[in-house]
Amino acid sequence: MPVTKQEFRHALGKFASAVTVVTTRDAEGNDLGITVTAFSSLSLDPPLILICIDHHAAIHDSFTLGRAFVVNILSAQQDEISQQFASRVADRFAGVDVHEGALGVLSIDGACANVECRVTNLLPGGDHTIVVGSVEGTEVSDLDPLLHYRGSYRCLV
Ligand SMILES: Cc1cc2nc3c(=O)[nH]c(=O)nc-3n(C[C@H](O)[C@H](O)[C@H](O)COP(=O)(O)O)c2cc1C
Repeated sequence: MPVTKQEFRHALGKFASAVTVVTTRDAEGNDLGITVTAFSSLSLDPPLILICIDHHAAIHDSFTLGRAFVVNILSAQQDEISQQFASRVADRFAGVDVHEGALGVLSIDGACANVECRVTNLLPGGDHTIVVGSVEGTEVSDLDPLLHYRGSYRCLV
């Protein structure tokens, strides 16, 4: 018997994670972003990461092979940015300081790290798509990360 959704959420909620906002620019030139905790390092050689995107997310179909995207690992003071990129607001980038990276995608200022990637694989994962990205550039700061645990934002100390 599979576990219930409640059992699944209760157990997986014990997994503390960092919080990212994944940004991309679609084929029409629109800047898009989504809050994502389903992020992992995948391979060192070659350098690969993965993110998992809900089939129903507006950004989902923008992830096509070769598409550039940035995983912005949020810093401790950026919980409002996390909420904004998970909300149905007209402009998720409103009030958010950004700069354009080498791949032509907006990176969020003041993040712990900005990881610039290109989509190399799209794999099925239940109601999500596993997006594998090759890492083509990184920016790193000394800031502490924002954490997410059991539905709440936390800090390291
Ligand atoms: C803390 C947090 C973590 C999330 N992690 C993910 C994730 O890993 N993958 C995903 O597809 N959606 C994730 N979401 C949900 C999306 O951010 C949110 O549902 C989405 O932006 C709304 O979809 P829309 O763009 O179609 O309005 C997360 C939301 C929050 C608040």
